[in-house]
Amino acid sequence: MGRTKMASRLSTLNANEMLREDHDKVKTLFEQFGEAQEESVKKEIVQQTLLELKVHTALEEEIYYPAIRERLAAQDEEVNELMDESEEEHQVAKALIEELEKMEPGDQHFDAKFKVLADSIRHHILEEETKTLPLAEESGMELEDLGEQMAHRKVELQEEIQNLEAIRPDASARSEKKSKGRTHRGRASRS
Ligand SMILES: [Fe+2]
Ligand SMILES: [Fe+2]
Repeated sequence: MGRTKMASRLSTLNANEMLREDHDKVKTLFEQFGEAQEESVKKEIVQQTLLELKVHTALEEEIYYPAIRERLAAQDEEVNELMDESEEEHQVAKALIEELEKMEPGDQHFDAKFKVLADSIRHHILEEETKTLPLAEESGMELEDLGEQMAHRKVELQEEIQNLEAIRPDASARSEKKSKGRTHRGRASRS
């Protein structure tokens, strides 16, 4: 029920509107992280950001980028280069995401790593919004149809990725142990 509702709401956005909406969402999360003080808040922001990014990059790689290549690369070889570059930027982001998933707020380099991810994603978003998305707009591609296809896939991806996370060796159990250890050490050194 919720699923159909969500998909039909999202499908009122065309592909570019949908991508821009996602971009704005992660940019807001990056700002929130910058303001967050508490580790629990940081953790929540990071978890949400990583999920958003995983779904978004998969959507682009599975549907949006191939559609652009198919439509435009024959006339313009640079389109393939642009898409290759975008995919490489996704790879860089994925490596950072994978590292962050093994970490917890409070770990050394956690904040630094997330900020590097944020900077690289901001750069990537800017490239997409100034080059790729306008290219798609000017080409007369069927952005409405593409948006609908992406909206459906987005719901599936959100479920798939969340299910994967549920069965992954539990990072929170690890962190509990770690933070208990830390508290213990902290107390011991103070007394
Ligand atoms: Fe992208
Ligand atoms: Fe994007």
